[in-house]
Amino acid sequence: MRTSQRPDGEPAPPVRAAIVGTGNIARLHIEALHSMPDQVEIVAAADADEDTLTSFGNRYGLDARYGDVEELLRGASPDLVHICTPPGMHRPQVLACLDTGATALVEKPPALSLAEVEEMAAAEGERGPWVATVFQHRFGSAAQRARALIESGELGRPLVAVCHTTWFREQSYFDVPWRGRWETEGGGPTMGHGIHQMDLLTALLGDWVEVSASAHQQARSVATEDVSLARVVFANGAVASVVNSLVSPREESYIRIDLERATIELTHLYGYGDDDWRVTPAPGFEERVTAAWKAGEAGVNSGHAAQLGHVVAAVRAGTAPPVTSAESLRTMRLVAGIYASAFQRRPITPTDLGPGSPFHGRMNGDGPRW
Ligand SMILES: NC(=O)c1ccc[n+]([C@@H]2O[C@H](COP(=O)([O-])OP(=O)(O)OC[C@H]3O[C@@H](n4cnc5c(N)ncnc54)[C@H](O)[C@@H]3O)[C@@H](O)[C@H]2O)c1
Repeated sequence: MRTSQRPDGEPAPPVRAAIVGTGNIARLHIEALHSMPDQVEIVAAADADEDTLTSFGNRYGLDARYGDVEELLRGASPDLVHICTPPGMHRPQVLACLDTGATALVEKPPALSLAEVEEMAAAEGERGPWVATVFQHRFGSAAQRARALIESGELGRPLVAVCHTTWFREQSYFDVPWRGRWETEGGGPTMGHGIHQMDLLTALLGDWVEVSASAHQQARSVATEDVSLARVVFANGAVASVVNSLVSPREESYIRIDLERATIELTHLYGYGDDDWRVTPAPGFEERVTAAWKAGEAGVNSGHAAQLGHVVAAVRAGTAPPVTSAESLRTMRLVAGIYASAFQRRPITPTDLGPGSPFHGRMNGDGPRW
């Protein structure tokens, strides 16, 4: 296991990081890693597509290039592997990393099903290697502040919430072969897009206990839903209304939580800064709420750089990096719960989603009912 300090008090050497899958999102990973040169050495990249790998390697000055994850693991012995491939590849690639002792940071969604994520979690070691999932919107300073304030009880009980991911994707977006299919993407906007906002909602409100939902094919020619709607009940008593859409021309990502003493709102699209949050105190709580909101952490935008800072620090320290398997499983269970409720036409609790459920092994369960 690595530690951030050697026994002689000298700092640990930089983390040896590698990237698997050098398409769109890999750029954000390597640029975030480049901003931490003292803490990370980028040792290799892999992609099944030679042209993509060549242009990525040339652009970022990376000479150690491999055609697949196994070759990369053998050739470069990384400590940390960023899995930036399509979701259908995540499970075998994460398992290959863990098998050689490398920690895996996997892009969302962490895998195609609850069964796959549970299998990955079971392959972690108690003291590493670990699997962490990219859910970068937890890591902006305002989200961290909101979470701390809600958890402390300073704003009173959370009562009602709204969580909207109303985005727009033309039909041509689905031309990429892995998109829009249950077997390769695992689902539509619930699994692939709204999952970010729903993950942040659960980070802020905690465990969910029941979901009722519907899923729809409104406008795109895809095998999955292009819209889903859900009502979610949380263990703390809060109720939330969730919308996930890819057919909304005025795009927005919106979370609103009404607590006894304040409303907290976040309005953004693909990432936020402190100014994208608004806190409105309830009558009588103006000074107290305003002072509490101003007192916390500030200045960090959400994004890959914010999360990767925490991930690299944890790997250097030999501790589990965020977002842990247990936390990403809670979010994946909410996704599976939405599909199960929509297709079985009944309310679903987390205990309905165990190995006996058709929605444990596949997000579309025993087949969608539109
Ligand atoms: N966190 C975010 O905000 C965010 C945003 C976009 C995408 N993503 C996620 O990132 C992942 C990748 O998405 P993308 O848009 O970069 O996709 P992409 O298609 O642009 O890139 C994927 C790359 O993986 C390569 N690849 C495919 N199979 C491979 C294999 N077996 N071994 C090695 N390389 C292989 C492809 O050749 C391609 O270059 C997905 O899970 C997606 O959901 C996350």
